[in-house]
Amino acid sequence: MILVETLNSVRHQSSSSSQPELPAIEARNLVKTYRGDVRALDRLSFRVEAGAIFGLLGPNGAGKSTTVKILTTLSRPDSGEARVAGLDVLRDAERVRHAIGCIGQKSGVDSEATGRENLTLQGRVYGLRGTELKRRVAELLERFGLDQAADRVTRTYSGGMQRRLDVAMGLVHHPSVLFMDEPTTGLDPEARADMWKEIARLAREEGITILLTTHYLEEADRLAQRLAIVDRGRVVAEGSPEELKSELRGDTIHMELAQAEDASKAHSVLSRLEELRELVIDTRTLYARADRGATTVPIALATLESAGVKVASVTVARPSLDDVYLRYAGRSFREADQGGSR
Ligand SMILES: Nc1ncnc2c1ncn2[C@@H]1O[C@H](COP(=O)(O)OP(=O)(O)OP(=O)(O)O)[C@@H](O)[C@H]1O
Ligand SMILES: [Mg+2]
Repeated sequence: MILVETLNSVRHQSSSSSQPELPAIEARNLVKTYRGDVRALDRLSFRVEAGAIFGLLGPNGAGKSTTVKILTTLSRPDSGEARVAGLDVLRDAERVRHAIGCIGQKSGVDSEATGRENLTLQGRVYGLRGTELKRRVAELLERFGLDQAADRVTRTYSGGMQRRLDVAMGLVHHPSVLFMDEPTTGLDPEARADMWKEIARLAREEGITILLTTHYLEEADRLAQRLAIVDRGRVVAEGSPEELKSELRGDTIHMELAQAEDASKAHSVLSRLEELRELVIDTRTLYARADRGATTVPIALATLESAGVKVASVTVARPSLDDVYLRYAGRSFREADQGGSR
């Protein structure tokens, strides 16, 4: 009962614009070191307003899953504090577990049980019984397009169907805060688009606060109202996708060189041009920013040509989240993701 009151108060505050909003999730200076001296979290902090979709965006090993595990009470920080749905994750772990739904990076579905059995068991764990449980299971099976397949063992489900069942299981007890660790990794584009729609609907129509982690810049850009870019266990930038992008003045120029060996020569001649700033090389691609991309590109190309450097392609674009990441982490997202964060 106390739990329900807490949740209602979180929801109530979110709908009242005159009240200062109580954050649904708050992480303060979380530190976590694993054996072998891996500092997975290094004073990580952020907050999520009730009813929002918040993205934790970062490459492999950035600390996303470690953060989710701490916030969902599956792991303890070495230091720092966290509150979820108004409750302290260390002191009130049991109540936090009832207030949240959690969809882990790895599927929690029992592959030898049917979809209906998986959901029913999950509902029992949360204390649902009898007709209430039956009704909730049927409702979720239908909502997630699994009613036809409900009585098949989930080993026969496609990746997208298994992921939808994972989400349905996370929702069985009507949580107010939902954690989704990489909800769309491994899904094909169509299944990913369906999942995006469902995530947006949960926040919009049911007022559920959603924290999702993702490797996909596009996913964070499309779905999250606010996001934190995490790198090496720290938040390096936080804001709405638009805010983060608009902090980068001007245009982004990407120049792919014909030969990787020319990269350092290209960097050295281009760094003398005052029209270009924030020049970064990643193998054979040069990234730079300019106030006016369209007039700067010919100057840059002429400079490279007179240095004998051949260019394979050039693009000029408005800043993307990739550029935001590059700016704050000092390397491209692709490079960080392929190489791991450390
Ligand atoms: N149980 C563990 N024991 C030792 N080191 C761990 C453990 N779990 C995570 N780590 C390390 O902590 C760091 C952060 O890992 P974490 O899983 O939080 O990253 P992530 O951002 O979720 O990465 P990914 O995108 O690959 O899922 C990594 O260097 C990882 O190797
Ligand atoms: Mg992870």
